[in-house]
Parts: sequence; C-alpha cells; structure tokens
Amino acid sequence: MDLFSLKGKTAIVTGAAGLIGKEHCKALSDAGANVVAADLDEDKCALLASTLKTGSMGIKLDVTSPGSIKEARERIIEKFGHIDVLINNAAINDMFENPKAALEQSKFENYPLELWQKSVDVNLTGVFLCSQILGAEMARQKKGSIINIASTYGIVAPDQSLYINKDGKQSFYKPPAYSATKGAVIMFTKYLASYWGSDGVRVNTLTPGGVENSQDEFFIEKYSSKTALKRMAAPSDYRGAVIFLASDASAYMTGANLIVDGGWTCL
Ligand SMILES: NC(=O)c1ccc[n+]([C@@H]2O[C@H](COP(=O)([O-])OP(=O)(O)OC[C@H]3O[C@@H](n4cnc5c(N)ncnc54)[C@H](O)[C@@H]3O)[C@@H](O)[C@H]2O)c1
Repeated sequence: MDLFSLKGKTAIVTGAAGLIGKEHCKALSDAGANVVAADLDEDKCALLASTLKTGSMGIKLDVTSPGSIKEARERIIEKFGHIDVLINNAAINDMFENPKAALEQSKFENYPLELWQKSVDVNLTGVFLCSQILGAEMARQKKGSIINIASTYGIVAPDQSLYINKDGKQSFYKPPAYSATKGAVIMFTKYLASYWGSDGVRVNTLTPGGVENSQDEFFIEKYSSKTALKRMAAPSDYRGAVIFLASDASAYMTGANLIVDGGWTCL
C-alpha cells in the first residue's frame, strides 16, 4: 500500500469548504498528507483543517486573485517547505438568485455576460493561476501532481430534459459557461501535462458525475436512470480516485482524464 501513501507530502485543495472539496481533504489526509484546505472563508477552512491530520492548515485563497494565491504560497512554503499536490477544485455552478426568473435568465439567448465571465474567471482562469503560481513550486522541485476537477458536462452536453419538473415544466436550463469552462479545463490539463512532463510534474483531470445533495426525488430518479450504476454519486465516491491521482500509484499517468461518473458518459 506504500504506492498510495502521501506521507510527508503537502497537498492543497482549492474550494475546500464545498461539498466535494471536504472529501478531497479527508482522502488526502487519510493517505498521510499534510493538507492545506483553501477557500474564500478562512474560518471555515480552519475548522475543516482541525478535523484532519495534525499539521493540516486552513487558508484563505481566492483562485481569481494572483495576489491572494501568492500570499497563500508564502504561508504554505513557510509552514511545510514544499508543495507536492494541488487539486484545482474551486468552481462556480451558476445558481440563479431568483428561482422565478431562473428559466428566463438561464435561456442561452438571455444568459448574462456577467455570469459567463464569472464562471470563466473562477472555473478556468482560477485553474490557470493556481497551476502557474503553486505548480511552479513543483516544477522547481522536479516532482508533483496536479489534479484538475472537471465535470461530465465538460465531456458531453447537459441533458436539458433533466431540469423538467414533475409538472412537465422546464425549471431552468443548465447554462453554457459551466460546460464550456469544464471542457476547457480538460484541454488545459493536456497542455500542462505536455509542458511540465519533463520537469516531473504530472497533470491529470478528474471528471466527477453528479452528487446526490438534497435534490428532489423526481430529479434523483431521472438522473440515476441515466447512469449505468443507476444512482447518483455520494460525496465520498471520489476519494479513491483522488488518492490514486495524487500518489505514486499513478506515477506513469499524465494528461489523462479519470472519469468517475457511475457510467453517465458511457450510455
Ligand atoms: N457536486 C457535483 O455534483 C459535481 C459534479 C461534477 C463536478 N463537480 C465539480 O467538483 C468541484 C467541487 O464541486 P462542489 O459540488 O463541491 O461545489 P461547491 O459549490 O459545494 O464548492 C465550491 C467551493 O468553491 C469555492 N469557491 C468559489 N469561488 C472561489 C474562488 N474565487 N476562490 C476560491 N474558492 C472559491 C466556494 O466557496 C465553495 O466552497 C467543482 O469543480 C465542480 O464543478 C461537482
């Protein structure tokens, strides 16, 4: 099992305070890493870090701000001396403030430019900036693993019929920025894997499918029927994949996309 050990490694998770980010932190900690839980709210990150292996830390980090990422890098290097694993997990999945206006606002023809730009900033530019500023430390030490979190919607288009309610009415449309940015993350992964391959930095994508998280029963049933395993993911379903990609167990893997979606994209 030494292949999967992350003992002595420093692993950073962006968007750590979210639904899946917490699970990435736990997985890395269970495998022995010192985890840096990074998100917009430092208190939430500190609380999360206190539940992990001793030595873990919570840190404020805005993936859209080079200054914030550089500040975090200084604190991490000061505490641990090196950076070995980066999970680019932070992302925005558009939520429409007013559910009554959601249908109109989420229509492609009406989709606001500000929402498009915000998603590009966080989901794509954030991955670029964190890789550039934090990944450069790995290139310098000639070893590291970057895991970029994409989505099934970066591989196949959203099935808009999923968002039709029981009464037959469309509640909203899954917006274009999410698919476009997640697709771009998959290609950015390949670019960086090629660029940093000779420097010993591996860069892979992890593509999760939808996680069950208090959605209504009708939605859960419809979603589940579109997967081969006939269920949505549990937040913990990605732990094994994260440990695999972060550790030497995947030493000869780079530029790849590990799809963990219950078979959504195989049907
Ligand atoms: N939940 C799912 O069903 C699902 C499915 C496929 C892919 N994903 C992907 O998994 C990842 C995590 O998803 P989640 O469901 O945990 O999302 P979430 O919304 O629960 O968490 C996202 C986290 O990112 C943080 N964040 C937002 N903007 C940020 C910024 N500028 N800087 C730093 N942090 C920022 C938020 O504060 C939040 O804690 C995302 O990349 C998402 O696209 C999720």
